[in-house]
Amino acid sequence: MKVLGIETSCDETAAAIVESDGEGPGRVLSNVVLSQLDDHRPYGGVVPEIAARAHLQHLDGLVRQALDQAGLGLAGLDGVAATAGPGLIGGVMVGVMTAKAICAVTRLPFMAVNHLEGHALTARLTHGVSFPFLLLLVSGGHCQLLAVEGVGRYRRLGTTIDDAVGEAFDKSAKIMGLGYPGGPLMEKAAAGATDPGRFDLPVPMKGRPDCDFSFSGLKTAVRRHVEMLGGTLGDADRADLAASFHKAVGDSLIDRCTRAMKLFKQDFPTGGTLVVAGGVAANQVLRGRLTDLCRRRGFDCVAPPMGLCTDNGAMIAWAGLERLRLGLTDGPDFAPRPRWPLDPTAKAAPFAGVKA
Ligand code: KG4
Ligand code: ZN
Repeated sequence: MKVLGIETSCDETAAAIVESDGEGPGRVLSNVVLSQLDDHRPYGGVVPEIAARAHLQHLDGLVRQALDQAGLGLAGLDGVAATAGPGLIGGVMVGVMTAKAICAVTRLPFMAVNHLEGHALTARLTHGVSFPFLLLLVSGGHCQLLAVEGVGRYRRLGTTIDDAVGEAFDKSAKIMGLGYPGGPLMEKAAAGATDPGRFDLPVPMKGRPDCDFSFSGLKTAVRRHVEMLGGTLGDADRADLAASFHKAVGDSLIDRCTRAMKLFKQDFPTGGTLVVAGGVAANQVLRGRLTDLCRRRGFDCVAPPMGLCTDNGAMIAWAGLERLRLGLTDGPDFAPRPRWPLDPTAKAAPFAGVKA
């Protein structure tokens, strides 16, 4: 089974084709990603209208490239999937309309994919992880812990009550004058630290009985330290503050995941895999700390390769393929959903908006 996947929900235009022979991991036949970073950099963040126009301009060419690299024509496909939410609605509409148009012409089945389900199921594409598993989803727009029981079956154990963790990386990097996007730049800066414990930053939510997250206070604490240093930082200050930030984020994730592991074990005493997914999962320091935690708690730790952690088409193609296998296809009337929680029964966190 071969599926084309289209991703246009934020600032990456991406198309990919994945294949599966049945159970176990799949194969990525092609995976092309066009980052719009240079278009948005002057504004220090993603501008929705610029993003939508860039998707429109480039998507057709990227779909062609994905087919060429896989050595396939449209007739060689079994279905077409596109991110149908959550995300910036202009971009989502471009991807969904393109996929629907291909399906209308070829009569292939269309799968409307939840972007978060794409991140969630990537570990099945790369490692063949079986259900159920515990998922830490950490991206620019989301920060959640979920018990994943099957395709389309998610139970939220915790969510951010304000900022997402990637958002905290991006905002703190901006405050520190590191530029955009913040995550990779913070990681690079932290690698040069000589005194990683120099700045005392709060560890958000530590010890709380639930599995929720909060990162907006951490960002405020970073701002306070920058102000105390006179507003501008030297390279050494920046490196130490970035390392202290990593430590606080890591401590918080470890504390929250430890709680979630206990809850998960109550329901699934024999299950024990923690999947770390989303753009922040590309961070080597945090990956290392979570791997350590899993070793101590008897969990397997699985994180997709870095290129499949940040937004890409292969994760959407794979989620579409899993849905197609189960007969979960969608009609041409499917309306894109700017908000689309994985667990619709979970209560919205009041200050997190779409991030919960
Ligand atoms: O999943 P993603 O590509 O897009 C969303 O769905 O949000 O995640 C993007 C986020 C950004 O906030 C970016 O700064 C963060 O992931 N990120 C990182 C790293 N690489 C990307 N955060 C920390 N360390 C990294 N190496
Ligand atoms: Zn994402």
